[in-house]
Amino acid sequence: MTDLDAIPATALPLAARSPGKCILFGEHAVVHGRAELLLAIDLPVQIGISSSKRSSLNGDTAAPETHAYFHSALERLWAGGDPVDLHVTSRVPRAAGLGSSAAFSAALAAGLSAARGGVSRVGLAERAFAVERGAQGVGSPGDTAAVVAGGYVSVNGPGDAELFRLSEGTGKWTVRRVRDPSWSWVVAYSGIPRSTASAVRAVGLRLAESDGVELLDQFHRVAEAGIRAVQAEDRAEVGRLLDENQTLLVRVGVSHPRLEALLAASRPAVVGGKLTGAGAGGSVVVLPMPGRELEAARRIARAGGLPFVVRPEPLGASIVTNPDAEVEPETSAS
Ligand code: PMV
Repeated sequence: MTDLDAIPATALPLAARSPGKCILFGEHAVVHGRAELLLAIDLPVQIGISSSKRSSLNGDTAAPETHAYFHSALERLWAGGDPVDLHVTSRVPRAAGLGSSAAFSAALAAGLSAARGGVSRVGLAERAFAVERGAQGVGSPGDTAAVVAGGYVSVNGPGDAELFRLSEGTGKWTVRRVRDPSWSWVVAYSGIPRSTASAVRAVGLRLAESDGVELLDQFHRVAEAGIRAVQAEDRAEVGRLLDENQTLLVRVGVSHPRLEALLAASRPAVVGGKLTGAGAGGSVVVLPMPGRELEAARRIARAGGLPFVVRPEPLGASIVTNPDAEVEPETSAS
């Protein structure tokens, strides 16, 4: 294991921040133990946490019961604690497949853990996953691991140093560092929100059909090859494999005509692309040809998507040392 920075003990009030994330290869198959590649992206979620008379989220005092992720964090990480007021600002669109729930879970786990004496980076990965899984009921630790580690990470696939080993029930996942090829990516939200849990359940049913294991093996092969191609900085091969991964996602039923339209619109400026996250709406990720990031983003915007040119964020979820530097809000809560 490598020694990523621990979360230090910090008294309230404090602020914690986490990057969003984007899945490059292997979503859905990772839930069934296959390989995945993710990167933490430079769209942050920041949570100010202070003691209060009544717990609330951006002024909403019902949120400790109604907001599944806040509720899950209070239950798992704050038993017996005083009420806390959360002030959340986010640049990650919600329910869009870009990691708003993972980032919220990781930033809140970091903040509450700091207020309770700190936690190791591995411990934070476990806690962020427990918060998200507790709220969603299904899923892998891929998203939370990526936003806790920062940069590129593989799950159950090739890579460099081992960062975390995580498990839940019979599921086991090993998270490794993957070298950053220094590329910019374009992610784009279709404007169609969707539920990760229902997409994961629908794909689970699809994979229980007779060709399910063969499909999972194909997802795994594409993800492993994709991770190796990223490590080798082979842009053309990564583009080809992104397209191949998209074909598999279409086969398991999680694409959407709006996602296909965004991918088609970006085509002249990219080497490949796919939906990212649970699908059935949500977002796409495309790898632009060198220097054509803005053109890819413009083409997607013209087709009705909300594009972001993103770079990997190397810093995983952490305590903010200058909490006055709030993130520019895109949306108001996780
Ligand atoms: O849509 P998101 O960002 O919640 O990503 C889900 C990724 C899945 O592989 C579909 C589920 C999971 O927990 O890994």
